[in-house]
Amino acid sequence: MLDILGQTIPTCLCLLLANVSVYAESPAQTTNIFRPDSTPAQVISDYTVLVLAICAVIFAVVAGLLLYTTIRYRRRRADDGLEPPQIYGSNQLELAWTVVPILIVLVLSLVTVRTIADVQNAVPPPNSLRATVVGHQWWWEIRYPELGIVTANELHVPVSDATQRKPTFLTLESADVAHSFWVPLLAGKTDLIPNRQNRMWIEPTKPGTYAGNCAEYCGTQHAHMLIRVIVHPPGDFERWVTEQRKPRTEDATVQAGRNLFFANSCISCHTINGTTAQGKFGPDLTHLMSRETIGSGVALNTPEKLRAWVKDPQALKKGSLMPNMQLTDEQLDHVVSYLLTLK
Ligand code: CUA
Repeated sequence: MLDILGQTIPTCLCLLLANVSVYAESPAQTTNIFRPDSTPAQVISDYTVLVLAICAVIFAVVAGLLLYTTIRYRRRRADDGLEPPQIYGSNQLELAWTVVPILIVLVLSLVTVRTIADVQNAVPPPNSLRATVVGHQWWWEIRYPELGIVTANELHVPVSDATQRKPTFLTLESADVAHSFWVPLLAGKTDLIPNRQNRMWIEPTKPGTYAGNCAEYCGTQHAHMLIRVIVHPPGDFERWVTEQRKPRTEDATVQAGRNLFFANSCISCHTINGTTAQGKFGPDLTHLMSRETIGSGVALNTPEKLRAWVKDPQALKKGSLMPNMQLTDEQLDHVVSYLLTLK
């Protein structure tokens, strides 16, 4: 669930470790929580800065007083054998160290409740986009029920601005175990729990590619469960939607690869719209080549990497649930040329 205070440090470490893979090869943005580019992330960041500032003041006062007392009242030569004056009770002191913390806790509680309410109770404006994100071991299924689009590992959304707000409201589900959706520049993290629907929203204010990662340990390849959010400039999202909804035209020159794809068990797990491939276990491949990465961010989606992936998914992503189909080099070439036509 929304976990504002506890989210920062442990998951930052996870993200740092996970970033070594495909982010090193591509220009995806950082995951700095102090550089929010979306309304909920901004609200959480403002809150974090306030809490850190209050804690810094408390630390400075306590550490300052401690240092002052240690030096000012240190043991001196003339004190030898003498007990310092013993003082019992002080109403002013006790009142001060009771009332001041109560006031601080009260302020923190009110700001916390306010921040959580701002993030959780947001009402979708009429123009908002809706998408469903389903966590799988170890990739993300992304559905746009109102647009009839299914894709994987890349969430495409329009940019939002103050004059024309276009936030995206997400429904989060899981196909297997608990995962957590976290794109630090866009929003706080929210878990994807089996047999349950969670909700969150993002409202990016700058076009670009935003990097994120699964933030709940979900098995061997948890660290390679990367997500990209592609925020389109005004008008460009509609172009992407049109591309994704275009009916497919079969390319006769790749018939051999197509036959192999349909003869092997690829179709038990993958969907290609307009064909008999309607598997749901793996990512939808209808527009495979429109995606930047394969294996949920484990490699860039180039013909060479795609070939390496089909040849032996375990070599690129150990533990991946896609089996090695034991294809010969010639068969591989055919299957890959067919996959390359899935634009
Ligand atoms: Cu999915 Cu960690």
